[in-house]
Amino acid sequence: LAYRDYLRLLPKTELHCHFVSTLSAARLISLADRYGVELPTTDPEELFAYDDLADFLVAFRAATDVLRTSEDLATTAYDGVRAAVIAGNLRYREYGVNPQYFAARGMGYREFLEPVIDGLRAAERDLGVGFRLVVAINRRESAGSAVELVEQMISHPYPEVVALGQDDLTPENTEDPGRFAEAYALAKRHGFHLTAHAGETATASAEDVRVAVDVLGVDRIDHGYRVLDDPELVARLRERQLPFATTPLSTRALSGWALDPGHRIARMIRAGLNVSVSTDDGVFFRTDIGREYSEGLFSFGIDAEGAKAVALAGIDGAFCDSDEKARLR
Ligand code: HPA
Ligand code: ZN
Repeated sequence: LAYRDYLRLLPKTELHCHFVSTLSAARLISLADRYGVELPTTDPEELFAYDDLADFLVAFRAATDVLRTSEDLATTAYDGVRAAVIAGNLRYREYGVNPQYFAARGMGYREFLEPVIDGLRAAERDLGVGFRLVVAINRRESAGSAVELVEQMISHPYPEVVALGQDDLTPENTEDPGRFAEAYALAKRHGFHLTAHAGETATASAEDVRVAVDVLGVDRIDHGYRVLDDPELVARLRERQLPFATTPLSTRALSGWALDPGHRIARMIRAGLNVSVSTDDGVFFRTDIGREYSEGLFSFGIDAEGAKAVALAGIDGAFCDSDEKARLR
């Protein structure tokens, strides 16, 4: 028990956290009620249970629909930081944000991002938790609209918006990261960091991870579990120490993977890859950054030295400047 408390209390960063999923369950349900957004069910046991990633994404998209006003966004941002400090001693977090979801409802790029940034800046001031934002392409959208999204990033710069990512799934429920090569090339030319969800679930492969690295030129991978199916790629990415932002408890919810020493994340750590852990979608997977360590890493059989290495990987792989990294170390 003492070791699990240590894991929970260790100072942490997280690099893979979808902004919408920092909502509390209570607020998700009350906002859905206020705005008349139909949730599949209001029974939390059922609401937070999924068959697979595609099934989960239905719930995720419904939740984006409950954040309608600037106040909804700013309050979610602030309260989400406070909850993570209490749950797991969070010190720094990178958020995936999805402007395309909000644009589809008539909320512009700046109208969406500014209250999020305001809420997170207030939390940084009050609680000392730093942050950066990763603008994520929604893979259901076209390659052309992804380029338009990057054009928005370029024409409306914010100091905290430092990277491009991609999430959701294509309409065929595949990853196909290479589809967005043009958007990634444009973001890279303008100095943004690059990441991508790749190699996550059964519809993905090691090849998706390889394409994200070799075609898109990412400097980090979200998930990446399928990399283990290609030993040569593992060797290459170990050599490069390319950061993997993994999410232990999400894999149990979406892939049914037991949290034990045979888990892909445990094997990635033992293979010498650069692995950090994050919540992915806290409210949906009923997790928090404390549990990713005290339940995830603990069940993987990671010892105190290994857990410290994972926490340091969460600083090493961050897209912030070296001053912020020095503060975190
Ligand atoms: N994968 C893909 N898209 C997502 C995820 C994820 O884990 N979470 C939220 N959107
Ligand atoms: Zn994710």
